Parts: sequence; structure tokens; C-alpha cells
Amino acid sequence: MTLHAENENRVIRISTDETDLIYCTNSNGRLYQAYFGEKLLHEADITALSSDEKGGADSGAGQKGWDIYLPAGSGDYFEPALGITHSDGNRSTVLTFASVDTKSLDGNATETIIRLQDGQYPLEVALHYVAYKKENIIKTWTEIKHQEKKPIHLTEYASSILYLEHPAYYLTEFSGDWAKEMQMSTQPLQPGKKVLETKLGTRAAMFMYPFFELGLGQPAHEHQGEVLLGTIGWTGNYRFTFEVDNMHHLRVISGINPYASRYELPAGETFATPEFIFTRSDEGTGKASRHFHAWARHYQLKDGKGDRMTLLNNWENTGFQFDEQKLSGLMQEAKHLGVDMFLLDDGWFGNKYPRNNDRAGLGDWQVMENKLPHGIPFLVKEAEKAGVKFGIWIEPEMVNPKSELAEKHPDWIIKLPNRETYYYRNQLVLDLSNPEVQDFVFGVVDGLLTDNPGIAYFKWDCNSPITNVYSPYLKDKQEQLYVDYVRGLYKVLDRIQAKYPHIPMMLCSGGGGRCDYEALKYFTEFWASDNTDPVERLYIQWGFSQFFPSKAMCAHVTSWNRRTSVKFRVDVAMMCKLGFDIGLDGLSADERTFCQEAVTTYNRLKPVILDGDLYRLVSPYEGEHTAVMHVDEAQSKALLYTYNIYPRFGEALYPIHFQGLNPNKQYKIEEINLMPGTKSAFQGNGQTYSGDYLMKVGLRLFTTETTSSHLFELTAL
Ligand code: GLA
Repeated sequence: MTLHAENENRVIRISTDETDLIYCTNSNGRLYQAYFGEKLLHEADITALSSDEKGGADSGAGQKGWDIYLPAGSGDYFEPALGITHSDGNRSTVLTFASVDTKSLDGNATETIIRLQDGQYPLEVALHYVAYKKENIIKTWTEIKHQEKKPIHLTEYASSILYLEHPAYYLTEFSGDWAKEMQMSTQPLQPGKKVLETKLGTRAAMFMYPFFELGLGQPAHEHQGEVLLGTIGWTGNYRFTFEVDNMHHLRVISGINPYASRYELPAGETFATPEFIFTRSDEGTGKASRHFHAWARHYQLKDGKGDRMTLLNNWENTGFQFDEQKLSGLMQEAKHLGVDMFLLDDGWFGNKYPRNNDRAGLGDWQVMENKLPHGIPFLVKEAEKAGVKFGIWIEPEMVNPKSELAEKHPDWIIKLPNRETYYYRNQLVLDLSNPEVQDFVFGVVDGLLTDNPGIAYFKWDCNSPITNVYSPYLKDKQEQLYVDYVRGLYKVLDRIQAKYPHIPMMLCSGGGGRCDYEALKYFTEFWASDNTDPVERLYIQWGFSQFFPSKAMCAHVTSWNRRTSVKFRVDVAMMCKLGFDIGLDGLSADERTFCQEAVTTYNRLKPVILDGDLYRLVSPYEGEHTAVMHVDEAQSKALLYTYNIYPRFGEALYPIHFQGLNPNKQYKIEEINLMPGTKSAFQGNGQTYSGDYLMKVGLRLFTTETTSSHLFELTAL
């Protein structure tokens, strides 16, 4: 009772420069969401807020608002954020406010920790919120702990629940498959639930990505309107539940997917959920994406502020067919192109079961002696001689049944003991819930780097979802596998990070099938898709750019869609982290020169491309043209990328309205990345315009030429 009286009308304000998320206590001691939206101007207004007796069901059972972390069995009949079976079998939890602490993490970020407790059980729930002022990002996670006599069971354990109240809600989701990553689609939300989730375990995001955009009142739009963008930092099964309740309020619950994952929690142990990371904007998704990009570069992405290496990869070019001579030749080609690194892909390992195709050898991380008789040291030396760095592909979480590893350690493999095994790409997943397996996976990287300190980069692949879901290690705790697998993976990545803090790594998963902000604490970049057809890439990169900054997205020039010009392919890859995966001997002399010059241009403009702000001007989803821009922080340098996909005959071409420029500065515009011997066909080329003119009047830079592209450099005078 005392606690309730003391804490009545407690107001907790979590804010960024543009957003407020405010919680208030009620007379019952419970804490409710009172406001979530555009930042309030006057501190005094906050006292007028109350939780307003919102809430869905008219239960009469004590539910008086939007519970900050809605527990099951507390009088609200909609989807809970928390579900506990207590040690006595009771399935209800009621959380009241206990305390709040705030601390400044740096001048820009503040952490608020709200502690809740249950009057009937020794249970503590701590809700953490870190608000990044300037970037307008809030990340939140939850810690659950108890002192009951016996373990409790968690049936639901979301990271967060948010409530929204608008006349209409539109959900944009990102679905996918191999070579079809991040396809965007939008639908209105109606009463009832819409769930976005995965049950794939490892290659978790293959069919559905852990991102969403909500248009509030109207569909999410690039340049205007209120939107909420959210993502979960979890490299495994996640679930977003969007539930429109009886009052037409929307509840957004984000967290690990509790599917087949009831978790036993012993007394004294803490269950920590992953981070749910979100932002809102009153000026559309373009701005919200820039919030994510800036935050990722400053706070989340491994080496977020650092440089990125351009590279030549051999996968599309050679597949598994290569030898030392071939690789030495490719290193020379890398040098010729002017890229920073040569990246050796799959097929370099396995002896008893040589990895000459994807059916054998995975797990046996010894160099294949008859293919590469002088081992990795020779390759590192050859790269050094060519003047490029050397990177290497691994897939350490997986095993082919045809491997020495599978013969030696069958108990390390996730596999049902009593049913026929089914395979995805002829392979199985190692049981990372097992500490011995964690040692082995860490040992793959550690061993390679100990023997070859010259290795400068890893591409870490993960081609299979978890199949035949059974852990020999977890025995009677099978329901914990999906969660413990991911935790095991993080333990391995933590060890790598601690021992080799500076090694850049690419996250890959049969293309872009594993992609989240927790993994990207350990990876500098990710492979967006095996689909490098430049037309498809325009859509895939548009999708990923909703959440990820350009420097995190690897884009390679390959021979997918040979009907398009090399220039078009390069221009598409230039928007992101540039690489090549193509044999130079297949290119004409002009194309080779063009590629070399493009690498030089890319290096010169890296500060704008990798660290500039991204403005998506024209969507490929809305017609046959697309355009984006990068603008540096000082608004003194910008790059405009324009692409014509399959324009119709005689179609109307509209001017492109620039964004992000300083209206009062004069900008000289010059077309760059031209094929040798060609000149820009644009009349305005080389002319100077004010930022105001470029943004309001715009320039007619689209054409009707199929799969063509033009890049323009803008320099403030
Ligand atoms: C996956 C990756 C490719 C390549 C192959 C190698 O499919 O996405 O880039 O590394 O594996 O087997």
C-alpha cells in the first residue's frame, strides 16, 4: 500500500530530440504508457498526462491502461508481452512499479531502467531503455529474474510492447527468399493479429526479415507522414505481433519468437531479451531511415565510423574450380582493378572429403592439399606480392555429413535421434548450445588467424536453417535450443571480438538470409544477396537501405544479367560497399578501364558514399526509374545516382527533385563514371545551380534508355 501511495502519479519520460515515450503510474501502482509520439514542447504539460484509462478489453479486472509490459493473467485479454508459469503452477503475473534509475551513457544517450515487481511472487522485471537524442533512436530490452523456490517457465518474453492510437495503420513488411531479399509490401491492419516471424533458427531471415515500418493514419511514405520503424537485434527466431484491439488501438509486441521455446528460468538467473530498436518520424520513412543509418554508424555497427575495403571475390567467377595459379592470377587482377583485397570463397578446404562441391568437406577446416599444396601462407604471400590484402570464406557453424568432423563428433550435430534426417544444401547445423562446439567454432577463426596473421578479413556464411531440430547436448531441455543456439553464437562472436577486435567480417547467409543489428555488432558489413543482377539489386538495396547504412551493404559487380552494361552494374554497386566478382578477361579494354576508373572515383568519394546521409528520391517500386543521393554532413559534396530500368516508349519523364542540399549554397553538377571516350549528354552538365533550385525545380535527368544509369557529383562552390 505504501508503495502505491508513494508511486502514484509517477511520470517517466524517455525522450530523444524528436520523440517522447511517457509512462505514468495509476492509483493501483501499475505503470502505463501515457504518450508516444512527437516530442512535447512544454515540460509542464507532462503533468497533465494520465494513463487515461486506456486499454482494450473492458475487463473490470484491474486493467486500467496500456500496461508498460503487459503480463498474462493481469486483466487484459489481448496478446501479452510476458507469460510466466510460476513454480506453483499459477499462470498470472501482475507487475507494479518499484523504481526507476537514469544514467547518461555519453552526452547523447541516456539509459532509463524501470524496475517492476509482483506483489505475490519474488519476481523482478527490469525494463531498459536507451534513448539516443540526436539520432532519435530508442532501444529497449527486458530482464526477468526471480527468487521462487523452484524454476519458473517463461512462455512469452517479449523485448517490448508499444501502443498506438490512430484512425488507420499500414504495415510495410520485408519478405524474401534466396535471391529475392527484402521485398517490400504494404497492407492495412484490421482488427485481430498480423504476425511477422521466423522459425528457421539459423538462416533466420530468409523468408521474412526482422524489420517493419508502420504508416500511422496513412501508408508509410518516403517524404511525409508519421511512421514508426522497428527491428529486433536477434540472430534467430523473432516475432512481431501487430494486434488491433476492440478499441482500434494497435499493440506492437516485439521479441524472440516463443514458438517451441518455453524457457526454464532457475532462481537467481537473469533472462535478458534482445534489443528492440525503433524510431519514429513525422516526415516519412526517408528521415526515419537516416535515423537508423546515423545511429548504426555511431553506435552499433562494428567499426561503424571506419573505412571499408573494396575487394575482388572469386565465387561467381570460379565457383569451386580453382588452383594456386588461378588464385595468384586473380590477385593480380585485383591489383589491376585497384581494389584493396582479394577474397577467397568456398572450396579451399577438406582432404579426406574434399570440398569440390557443396556435398562434402564442410567442417574440415584444413586447406585442401592437392588443390592448394602450399597452403594459406602461400596465398597470403601472393596477395602481399600483388599489393592487396587477403580475405577468406568460412561457414563454421555447419557440417556436411560427408566430413571428418561429422565422423568424429556426431554428437555435435543438431539432428533427430529417431527419424530420417533431411538436409538443406546437403548440410547440417552444429549444436552451438554445447560449449565444446562453441570452442570448435571459435577455434576455426582463431586457428586460421594464429597460423596466418596475414588474413585480413572473413566472410562468415550460414547456408542452412536449423533442420531436424534436436540438440544432443540439451537432452530434456529441447525447448531451449532455439534461444541457446543464438546465445552460443554470441559467446563465440564475443570471444572473436575480444581477441581480434579489429578484424573486419562480412555476415553472409546464402545471400542475405541473416541480417540483424545484434549480429552487426560483430560484423562490419553483410552480403545483401547472391542476386547481383543490377535490376534486382535496385529493389533489394532499396529495401535494405530502409534500415542499414550504405557502408554495411556489400554490392558486387558480377556477370548476372549480362544484357546490362558493365557501367550499369558498376553504377548500381557503387551505391553501397563496392566489390567485384567477375573475370576481367571477359571484359573489353574499355570496360576494364571503366572499372579501374570507377574504383578510383569510389575511393575519392568514399566519405560521401560510406558516411554521407542517404536520400531516396524516386522509388523503383513506383515506376521504371529510381534515384538516390548521398550528401555529406557539411552539405558541400553530394552524389546523385539515377537509374532507368525498363522505361515505356515515349513515357513522360519528370524532373528529379534533389534533397538534403543547403538551399543557399551553389552546387556545380558534373556527370561522373562515364565510359572511356564518351561525354555527358546532359545539357546542364558542368553548370551551377543553387541547392534551392535543385530541390524545388529539380533537373530532368531520367532517360528512356533501358537499363541505363547516370551518376552526378555535386560540389558546393
Ligand atoms: C552462399 C553465399 C555465396 C557463396 C556460396 C559459397 O551461397 O551467399 O556468396 O559464398 O555460399 O558456397
